[in-house]
Amino acid sequence: MIKDESVEKVIDESQQGTPLALQHNDKNTRKLYIESYGCQMNFSDSEIVASILANEGFNTTQLLEEADLVLVNTCSIREKAEQTVRKRLEKFNAVKKINPGMKVGVLGCMAERLKSKFLEEEKIVDMVVGPDAYKDLPNLIQEIDEGRNAVNVILSKDETYGDVAPVRLNSNGVTAFVSITRGCDNMCTFCVVPFTRGRERSRDPQSILEEVNDLWERGFKEVTLLGQNVDSYLWYGGGLKKDFEKATEMQKATSVNFAKLLEMVAEAQPKMRIRFSTSNPQDMTLDVIESMAKYDNICKYIHLPVQSGSNRILKEMNRLHTREEYFELIDNIRKIIPDCAISQDMITGFPTETEEDHQDTLSLMEYVKYDFGFMFAYSERPGTLAERKMEDDVPEETKKRRLREIIDLQQKHGHFRTREHLGKVEEVLIEGPSKKSDAHWMGRNSQNTVVVFPKENYQVGDFVNVKINECTSATLIGEAVGYSKNN
Ligand code: SAH
Ligand code: F3S
Repeated sequence: MIKDESVEKVIDESQQGTPLALQHNDKNTRKLYIESYGCQMNFSDSEIVASILANEGFNTTQLLEEADLVLVNTCSIREKAEQTVRKRLEKFNAVKKINPGMKVGVLGCMAERLKSKFLEEEKIVDMVVGPDAYKDLPNLIQEIDEGRNAVNVILSKDETYGDVAPVRLNSNGVTAFVSITRGCDNMCTFCVVPFTRGRERSRDPQSILEEVNDLWERGFKEVTLLGQNVDSYLWYGGGLKKDFEKATEMQKATSVNFAKLLEMVAEAQPKMRIRFSTSNPQDMTLDVIESMAKYDNICKYIHLPVQSGSNRILKEMNRLHTREEYFELIDNIRKIIPDCAISQDMITGFPTETEEDHQDTLSLMEYVKYDFGFMFAYSERPGTLAERKMEDDVPEETKKRRLREIIDLQQKHGHFRTREHLGKVEEVLIEGPSKKSDAHWMGRNSQNTVVVFPKENYQVGDFVNVKINECTSATLIGEAVGYSKNN
């Protein structure tokens, strides 16, 4: 029986944290166990960290008990994400009793948010390192080796790790993340990211192209360009996005925006699939949609979080567009790329959200009929504008009930969308075996929908044309009819 696979796509912190698999160099003698929570950027950052530590004598291990150094790359986006990490620290504490030499470091957003307070709150922690300080890890590790606690949570104006070649740890050998921007300047009032990841800066397009070319040469077939807000990508020689105004005329004339970057990557590797995430509606321009339409190898899928369908709530959230402008963007996407899949992030129970606002969210969803969605109940985050200025006044049960309603509606729309694929022949990139059936491969079509089909003689990494015969609300089931022209 084949069941819904893409349920796994739903971001649920409790399911994350899978240790990254092996990276090995015979010369290295110490063992690093690294675990990641939260967004794709954190998983990508852990690959950068493992690369930096590979040069410091560390091989990765999947056995917590044998580790010399345990690193946990943390997420602060919702309270539950932080609780999950604190529970893990309890487990590490128990292991430390058996292995007293083991050191524990906290990386990522919780490290940045709590800074040295972490050392007081969680006695087990030896080291606290913010997202822009990973290059300082060799020094910090020396500190803890000498028996002192170590902290570096300095945020940077220009760190993009463009010069660190990530080791691909938890890799299927087919798909990889390539980060293109760091930080976020949007200041959505509910969101902790601008505080934990700092101001927005973009990575040199040359180093992005080099990484993509290198991935292709090593057999990878798909890259996802990553950023909190990719459409805002702007390279003008380095520095913060907000300082672009101060750039020289020459720098401005030769600057590279996201649409241009997409085209550069698509042209550099015409057989490689290109994806990107995440788009903020207020920053997504028509030229990006046109670039997507122009290149076959740019996947026809946009993750376009909206958070709410109510104009009043959008304003309170400091999302700088209206419901009507969002519809206009959706209409343009559908006009320029008729088969484009669109997904959402939604928050229920933001402060002051009324039943009427919630109805606006449902009616917005009805208009768009998203292919996928990631939906959350509002979680108040310390230090955000919403926490400082607004009361978290929607009762928990109301948040949960509204969440249930949007999840149910999304499931209905998901099914409506998957049914549209029935009978079609679609190109699928094989990522690995289906988790539900050994006899089947699992891959994705251009729209990012999971497709499952009998293995026959096809291999991981093949581009295959699959005829879609059946569907659930999130998975397509079909049979291969041959290699696609890309193979
Ligand atoms: N631009 C980012 C968004 C980061 S957060 C990206 O690249 O994914 C991911 C999602 O978490 C947001 O779109 C939002 O729906 C949700 N989220 C953020 N802060 C939240 C909060 N305080 N409570 C509940 N959900 C939140
Ligand atoms: Fe957060 Fe809004 Fe940026 S959701 S990551 S502040 S675009």
